[in-house]
Amino acid sequence: MAGFLFLSITIGGITTAQHRTMNTGGRTSRRTCDFGRTYVVKPKGRHQATIVWLHGLGDNGSSWAQLLEALPLPNIKWICPTAPTRPVALLGGFPCAAWFDVGELSEDSPDDFEGLDASATHIANLLSGEPADSNFLPFKLGVGGFSMGAATALYSATCFAHGRFTNGNPFPLNLRAIVGLSGWLPGSRSLRNKIEGSHEAARRAASLPILLCHGNSDDVVPYKFGEKSTQFLGSAGFRYVSFKTYDGLGHYTVPKEMDEVCNWLNGRLGLDGFRS
Ligand SMILES: *[C@@H]1O[C@H](CO)[C@@H](O)[C@H](O)[C@H]1NC(C)=O
Repeated sequence: MAGFLFLSITIGGITTAQHRTMNTGGRTSRRTCDFGRTYVVKPKGRHQATIVWLHGLGDNGSSWAQLLEALPLPNIKWICPTAPTRPVALLGGFPCAAWFDVGELSEDSPDDFEGLDASATHIANLLSGEPADSNFLPFKLGVGGFSMGAATALYSATCFAHGRFTNGNPFPLNLRAIVGLSGWLPGSRSLRNKIEGSHEAARRAASLPILLCHGNSDDVVPYKFGEKSTQFLGSAGFRYVSFKTYDGLGHYTVPKEMDEVCNWLNGRLGLDGFRS
């Protein structure tokens, strides 16, 4: 126990203790979220877009920052936060860096909307410090991630389209690109109702480009979760979903997949100076 306490302090490094009050259907609950350290990869060229990139379970922002820094995308600033360390049901309650609590990975397992909202709010806060997107100064904001980070990125996409988080707070930003590698879509069952109820939500869903990539040999997050997520998003009105299959790929990423991410982001965000 003492060993673990030490680990969480070390990983926390520069921690920001954020106490959020959430209103969930009349019941006000308070949960403390200590997000870990955030790593920033500065753009080497003209800053045209900022993407928050989210790691998988038990990882940290540092590992992805190193990988993203090497990509030929000089006009993108990457912000790589680290998830709070929390008990994770999937690991029998063992504390681990996780964007939300997750039990058995199955379509019927309940979603931890409180945890998802806390992380999606943290992401929105990180992006709200970036230049504003306007007709005069087009500036693009996006969210991407791997595995549980991809799930959180897709959840952010649904909050953006719906116009609010599940806790009712308004979603404050305009998102222009979502990337999910080896992930799944939380809250898929209620998604269609949330989007169909409003013209604005339908318009936002129809305009947001999403890239999903999944290996068909993934033994952690099954390939069919990628397929199902694509179907759920499509039937809820997300018109711009590209789903890429990687033959023989397990639960990790390969250069070929990151090349696809670069090409797709460059095309969707209309970046200058892209070297392919
Ligand atoms: C981040 O995670 C990697 C493993 O993915 C590990 O090697 C590294 O030490 C971690 N870094 C920090 C700062 O915790």
